[in-house]
Amino acid sequence: MEVPRRPELFDFHGVSMISAFTDNWENVQNFKARPDDILIATYPKAGTTWVSYILDLLYFGNMGLDRQTSIPLYDRVPFLEICVPFLPSGTDLADKLPTTPRLIKTHLPVQFVPKSFWEQQCRIVYVARNAKDNAVSFFHFNRMNLGQPDPGDWSTFLQEFMEGKRVFGSWYDHVNGWWEKKQTYSNLHYMFYEDLIEDYRREIDGLCSFLGLSPSAEEKERVRASVTFDSMKQNKMTNCSTVEVMDQKVSPFIRKGKVGDWKNHFTVAQNEQFDEDYKKKTKNPDLKFRFEI
Ligand code: A3P
Repeated sequence: MEVPRRPELFDFHGVSMISAFTDNWENVQNFKARPDDILIATYPKAGTTWVSYILDLLYFGNMGLDRQTSIPLYDRVPFLEICVPFLPSGTDLADKLPTTPRLIKTHLPVQFVPKSFWEQQCRIVYVARNAKDNAVSFFHFNRMNLGQPDPGDWSTFLQEFMEGKRVFGSWYDHVNGWWEKKQTYSNLHYMFYEDLIEDYRREIDGLCSFLGLSPSAEEKERVRASVTFDSMKQNKMTNCSTVEVMDQKVSPFIRKGKVGDWKNHFTVAQNEQFDEDYKKKTKNPDLKFRFEI
């Protein structure tokens, strides 16, 4: 079998991108959001799948077993900007979603979000993760996913991550851009991966209150049991085991799910360099990340 060529990174309006996320640009920009759409926005590897599945179960967990066992999460929660050969584009999938509300995922930096989401005052859930764990997770994801540019070795990857030269650009600009948006756009719920790991129940209560949902204690417990790291790792609908470009033998899609795994990857020198650079790039004292819990 021919080994698929990995895509090249290029500058797209100041953000590093690959063609899979820019080829459908006009349709993405002209996407017609509906007022009850819910957008799940993240920098890649911040816990998108986890939060998408939580939302999917909160809204549609009672729709019958068939849906839970036969429709992969990536079809239930379309990835807005994706456009690759032989698969429906994210905008097509979203247009055809039969459910209300529509849950839609994006990794776009805030300035690229189609304007209809703002016009329709859609609810948006943004999930952020500390830069070090985010970088480690992204590195392993790039290794196993042939649809991503070659990560090179860890030190090369880390350097490029710091320079914003990975898909969807700079982590620093992403988390900060969305944080700033939250100051003027009230329908944005900004969550942290670390908080969700630390106190799942507290975070779900906050999320439900933002969404105007009041699930019973039993429903909440059902959702909780389905979205544990182990359940999602086993679940073929969430573990991406059906995605051809992903080689789960290189690194599983649902990999470790920990806060602080960066300590197993960063050398002392890398950590010092990273911290120094981090201080320069993170100017907003209100946006704080935890590197351990
Ligand atoms: P690690 O690579 O650190 O394990 P995304 O969905 O945005 O691609 O994020 C992927 C990261 O979320 C991976 O991190 C993955 O293991 C983690 N993750 C997925 N499901 C999880 C869960 N149920 N609990 C904790 N972490 C989870």
